[in-house]
Amino acid sequence: HEEFTKVKNVEQIELGRHLMDTWYFSPLPPEYKDCKVLYFAEFDLRFFKRRDEMLQHLRKSRLQHPPGDEFYRNGNVSMFEVDGKKERTFCQNLCYLAKLFLDHKTLYYDVDLFLFYVLCECDSRGAHVVGYFSKEKCSEEGYNLACILTLPPYQRKGYGKFLISMSYELSKIEGRVGTPERPLSDLGNVSYLGYWTRQLLDVLSDHQGSISIKELSERTCIRPDDVVRTLNELQLIQVQKGVHVLYAGPAIIARHLKMAGSAGLKVDPSKIVWTPYN
Ligand code: COA
Ligand code: NA
Repeated sequence: HEEFTKVKNVEQIELGRHLMDTWYFSPLPPEYKDCKVLYFAEFDLRFFKRRDEMLQHLRKSRLQHPPGDEFYRNGNVSMFEVDGKKERTFCQNLCYLAKLFLDHKTLYYDVDLFLFYVLCECDSRGAHVVGYFSKEKCSEEGYNLACILTLPPYQRKGYGKFLISMSYELSKIEGRVGTPERPLSDLGNVSYLGYWTRQLLDVLSDHQGSISIKELSERTCIRPDDVVRTLNELQLIQVQKGVHVLYAGPAIIARHLKMAGSAGLKVDPSKIVWTPYN
């Protein structure tokens, strides 16, 4: 893809109370390229070259949250489902914003085919965007996530694992396994490996007797090849007398859980109010 080789065109963005250094090129409309700072209006993500224009726009709009349906609320954390077809401008703006922090992923600017799951931190002023993941409305490949982003000021607080976990909770409600679209970035990879490790070890530590890859996959909605990859990574699959066996005693499980990193912010599945797209 041509855009991989293009150099960064916007140096910083302002969004809400955050000024952020950008990481990568984003194919913004020509009139916005080569500006030092791009100003995003918090709730509809319209962007401006000048701060006063953005502030004027904010004063006119009375929004206090992203568009779409709030389908999860727990404490000060909430999530909105936004349909790319119904809220085309918002979703395109979200993609332009996200691309500033995404390297090798092709962004689909044909947002009509996607749903966007936007994570917010709420306070008295409104619901402030923290990150999101996108998902194809109908994925033939069985993807349950296309793109994932936690905005830099909110990274390393467990929100990435929260978003991954939410993508699998939605798969559980749909009653089918899922997997993220590839390629993943390095940070995406470690986040997924950490999530898969925890989920699989949780099932294994509760389980007595033998368990198949298929059953592990059904219990977690993690696709069988991702289950195998994770178990291999943890060296829990061994060949004994020519047969593949899973060996995971309590001490080994405890050690791996420790190495899997933090559990991240927890999703409370009982607070999800959501029905699959159809
Ligand atoms: N340095 C090293 N490891 C880091 C890191 C950093 N700055 N930030 C996150 N990680 C790793 C850690 O292993 C962490 O787990 P731990 O805190 O238990 O050790 C794990 O990532 C997940 O951290 P978490 O806080 O749950 O995730 P996050 O909110 O930081 O979001 C991403 C993770 C991948 C969504 C985020 O890094 C991001 O948006 N990156 C840019 C976009 C991208 O690459 N998306 C994936 C490709 S589509
Ligand atoms: Na994408």
